[in-house]
Amino acid sequence: MSDNIKPYLSDFQTLLQTIYTAWQTVDITHFEKQKRELDAHRPFPPLALKSLEGRLEVDEVHNSTAIEGNSLTLGETALVLQKGLTVSGKPLKDHLEIKGYDDGYRYIKSIYQSAHTLSEKIILEIHRLIFRHFENGLEKEYAEGIGRYRTMPVYISGSEFVPPNYIKIPELMNILIDFLNGIKNDCLRRAILAHFGLAHIHPFTDGNGRSARLLMNLLLLSEGYPIIIVKNDRRAKYINSLEALHQNPKDTAFFKLMTDFLQESFDLYKSLYS
Ligand SMILES: Nc1ncnc2c1ncn2[C@@H]1O[C@H](COP(=O)(O)OP(=O)(O)OP(=O)(O)O)[C@@H](O)[C@H]1O
Ligand SMILES: [Mg+2]
Repeated sequence: MSDNIKPYLSDFQTLLQTIYTAWQTVDITHFEKQKRELDAHRPFPPLALKSLEGRLEVDEVHNSTAIEGNSLTLGETALVLQKGLTVSGKPLKDHLEIKGYDDGYRYIKSIYQSAHTLSEKIILEIHRLIFRHFENGLEKEYAEGIGRYRTMPVYISGSEFVPPNYIKIPELMNILIDFLNGIKNDCLRRAILAHFGLAHIHPFTDGNGRSARLLMNLLLLSEGYPIIIVKNDRRAKYINSLEALHQNPKDTAFFKLMTDFLQESFDLYKSLYS
């Protein structure tokens, strides 16, 4: 590794630490309390739980792909996922995106019980699944980027932040994964920091936002928390808060917005027993 990369790496560790420390100033005890309350009511009636989980799945797949520009509505997403239908007049690409994201979601739901320790393999697999239906049809340079780190620069439109040079990605990812695995008994901050970290490194040519949202949810599920669904109706707030965090690592707007979404999921779970 060349010497001019090393300072950047320790800068990234400092950045993660600064953000994590700033988030300690936000009181999350009421979420921990709600989590304990939820656990006290388990097990939930199986059919009601299944119905709620189906709803959350469609909500997550719809919102996360809509943020990325997918044109399918919530109802259309449900038709595609639950009835296997296609929606006439909507692009094939949008259907494949929905299916791929759902594959990624089902993957995190299938592994979360054994995913307390995060690994690079899991993150790459999430990305591969999101794009699996594009493997044969995409232009060659994109197809090679499925489930692999980028080998070219990327730019975030509308942002002043330029993601790091691709040469640094493997080492930055190691730093991120080690940092996250070092956080114990602080699931919420850990999961939300994982989202920030992936958005910052932007390790893929495309699909960074979707991978970051699934990764965050994997870490929440692995500790028994409900998922965070980043709602498309607050897309601008979401993007602005990520931008603000890059301008000022002590800004807590992104963390607070994520916990607002968490509250919405807690409220849905509460309807199972109150
Ligand atoms: N200023 C910013 N700093 C860091 N990350 C950002 C910033 N603005 C946006 N992002 C992240 O980058 C994502 C977009 O990256 P990319 O196009 O690779 O992901 P995607 O999954 O294809 O699309 P999307 O995230 O819009 O669904 C956003 O969703 C957000 O998570
Ligand atoms: Mg994109």
